[in-house]
Amino acid sequence: MKIIKVKNYEELSQKAAQLVAKLMHKKPDATLGLATGSTPIGLYKQLIAMNQEGLISFQQIKTYNLDEYCDLPQSHPQSYYSFMHEHLFDHIDILEENVHLPECECGDLQAAVDKYNQMLKKTTIDLQVLGIGRNGHIGFNEPHTPFDQETFIVRLEEKTRIDNQRFFNSLDEVPKRAITMGIKNIMAAKRILLLISGKSKAETVKKLITSEPSPDFPASVLKYHKKVTVIIDEEAASLL
Ligand code: GLP
Repeated sequence: MKIIKVKNYEELSQKAAQLVAKLMHKKPDATLGLATGSTPIGLYKQLIAMNQEGLISFQQIKTYNLDEYCDLPQSHPQSYYSFMHEHLFDHIDILEENVHLPECECGDLQAAVDKYNQMLKKTTIDLQVLGIGRNGHIGFNEPHTPFDQETFIVRLEEKTRIDNQRFFNSLDEVPKRAITMGIKNIMAAKRILLLISGKSKAETVKKLITSEPSPDFPASVLKYHKKVTVIIDEEAASLL
C-alpha cells in the first residue's frame, strides 16, 4: 500500500481528484468504481469543477458503484442512487446509461445481485475509489466477510447503521440490508484509491496499518492488492 499523508480534508480531496483526472486523461473511456459516504464528497466536488472548466470529460467514462441500500426506493433522498446523482452525476457530462448501481428496487433481490455480479465480471474497473467504515468495512463488506465473497445481500451491523443514522431522521429509518460488491469484486480492480479522513477514523487507520490481513477487519485485504494508494489526513493519521 502506498500511503500519502496530507494536511486536511481539502488537500485529501484535491490529491484524490488529481489522481482520478490523471487516469481520465490517460484513458478517456476508463471505468471507475465509485463510493458513497461523506469522505468522497470533496473528491466529487473537485471533479465537478474540473469537468465544468473543461479540464476533464466524462462522456466516455463508465461507473460502477460499490453498493445500494435495500428496502429504500431509488427515489428516496438517501438511496445511493440519489446520493450519486446529487453529489456527482447531475453536475457532469456523464451519460446515464454509463452509470451503474445495484438495482434493489426490482423486487427480486437475488436477481439484482446476480445481474450486478455478472456485469462486474464482464468489466474491468480501472480505478476503484473506497472509503472505510469505522469497523473496517469497504463497500458494505462487514467484518467476517470472506475474502472470496462476490456481490451479495448483506445484513448491516448495528454500528454501521448508527454511523449512517446522521443521514436519516432516526435509526429506525436506516435500512437493515444492502447489496454490495463483494471483496473479490473490489480486489479485481486494477487500482484502488482509499480515502480516510477525520479523527473518528484514527483507530481504524491504526488497525489498518498494523494488522495482518484478516476477515475480522475487511479493509486489511487491501494489503494483498498490488496497486493501492491510501490518502490519509492528519486527524485520521493521529494515532500512527
Ligand atoms: C458507508 C458506505 C461505505 C463508506 C462508509 C464510510 O457505509 N457503504 O462505502 O466507505 O459508509 O462513510 P464515511 O465516508 O461517511 O465515513
